[in-house]
Amino acid sequence: MATKQETQAEPQVDASRDGASRGDTLSVTDNRTGKSYEIEISDGTIKTMDLRQIKVSDDDFGMMGYDPAFTNTASCRSAITFIDGEAGVLQHRGIPIEQLCDKSTYLEVAYLLIFGELPTPPQLERWIYDVTHHTFAHEDIKKFNEGFRHDAHPMGMLLANVGALSTFYPDAKHIDDDEERYMAAIRLIAKVPTLAAWAYRHSMGLPYVYPDNELSYSENFLSMLFKMENTFKADPRLAKALDVLFILHADHEQNCSTNAVRSVGSSGVDPYSAVAAGVAALYGPLHGGANEAVLRMLRRIEATDNIPDFLESVKNREEKLMGFGHRVYKNYDPRARIIKKHVEEVLEATGENPLLDIATELEKRALDDDYFTSRKLYPNVDFYSGLIYEAMGIPTEMFTVIFAIPRTSGWVAQWMEQNSDPDLKIARPRQIYTGRRDEDYTPPEDRDGPEKITGPPAKRPKKPRRGA
Ligand code: CMC
Repeated sequence: MATKQETQAEPQVDASRDGASRGDTLSVTDNRTGKSYEIEISDGTIKTMDLRQIKVSDDDFGMMGYDPAFTNTASCRSAITFIDGEAGVLQHRGIPIEQLCDKSTYLEVAYLLIFGELPTPPQLERWIYDVTHHTFAHEDIKKFNEGFRHDAHPMGMLLANVGALSTFYPDAKHIDDDEERYMAAIRLIAKVPTLAAWAYRHSMGLPYVYPDNELSYSENFLSMLFKMENTFKADPRLAKALDVLFILHADHEQNCSTNAVRSVGSSGVDPYSAVAAGVAALYGPLHGGANEAVLRMLRRIEATDNIPDFLESVKNREEKLMGFGHRVYKNYDPRARIIKKHVEEVLEATGENPLLDIATELEKRALDDDYFTSRKLYPNVDFYSGLIYEAMGIPTEMFTVIFAIPRTSGWVAQWMEQNSDPDLKIARPRQIYTGRRDEDYTPPEDRDGPEKITGPPAKRPKKPRRGA
């Protein structure tokens, strides 16, 4: 299931609308000492470092903020993505997601995220040309991929292969070189679909399909997934729906994986390694996997007649209604509204799917039920996206991999923005130390205490696996 972390990005402070520039301050009185402090408010935010002056004595370290999941801490200033969760608004570089899905293409949105403006026609042409002509991956990456077990999870393969790209492009470590940054952006956006498709082909035991420069970005991905001999031609309705899904997943401000990219990137490492950290974070079931969980839930419900019983079990807290609720959106997730429109188009192309009837009825009943509306639980992006992937014939293990393809442009945009940020420092949170201190080392013969390691000696799990 997704994306507790994905959703943990709180609505960001909109600097343009805030009264910060008026020189506002916050007065704080420390009741331990009776001292008062004036702390500057900028963009509706205080600098946590300003709390450090609050001390009970001269040798006190000073006050810190405790926010383990960054639920109320802005970790950066960003001009890429704006979310207003209460109003159900998502904008990239100020442009509403609805307009982007309606009028743009994924590659144009990727350019917008990275460069901050929509491209002119010649700029777009050059951008598409550059991405298209870097979709091939080095043959040694292919060999590397071939080395995975036949049952390796495609997301694990993608994670390893994206990290491995840094060894193929060692000059990417010159992160202050504009040309190298551009090349890394192009290569990542171009090659991740190839690596994703090869992971799938490997898990199916099928020969890998090379990219086709004559095809659009989404057609090429579908071709690399499904082509057999020379017979594959992507249905334009499916290619369009996939392109819209790519736009919808391109960026979502400071979610778990983006935060991972920024945190790892703050060390000055090359962008392939930083993006591999993002893939690893997305792999987690709280982030990238909710669409898979929705599909399993719909299959379990089996028929519309079973919906009332299922909703009762949700209300009795025996189940969760997967694909509903969001940490940020307390209104209909704008991405869900857009996806829903495309489900029917996709099913027209692929044939009926009884799970859609269950999903539609489930949504209707939940939205008629005070339990869900009073908690502001509405469908999120994952409620319908899994249905589209399934209708396209994509196996559930690939859903998170497909999420990673467009999110790569968001990760790259955020990594680039971070590297131009004058406030950039290596990420290094503080901790509240809760352990013992100043203990003496005890010689082995004087030690006792409860057994920490229980159970039989460590060995391979009993579950049989095929292969050596
Ligand atoms: N089904 C049933 N009850 C729910 C659900 C749900 N899906 N989500 C929240 N609630 C209830 C929750 O039990 C709580 O009730 P009460 O106040 O009576 O205890 C109330 O609603 C508030 O929930 P919360 O857990 O405080 O909300 P949160 O902001 O911490 O959690 C969430 C957000 C997305 C983790 C959660 O809604 C959830 O687990 N949803 C299902 C998983 C899912 O679909 N995730 C995809 C998110 S969208 C992906 C993306 O942005 O990329």
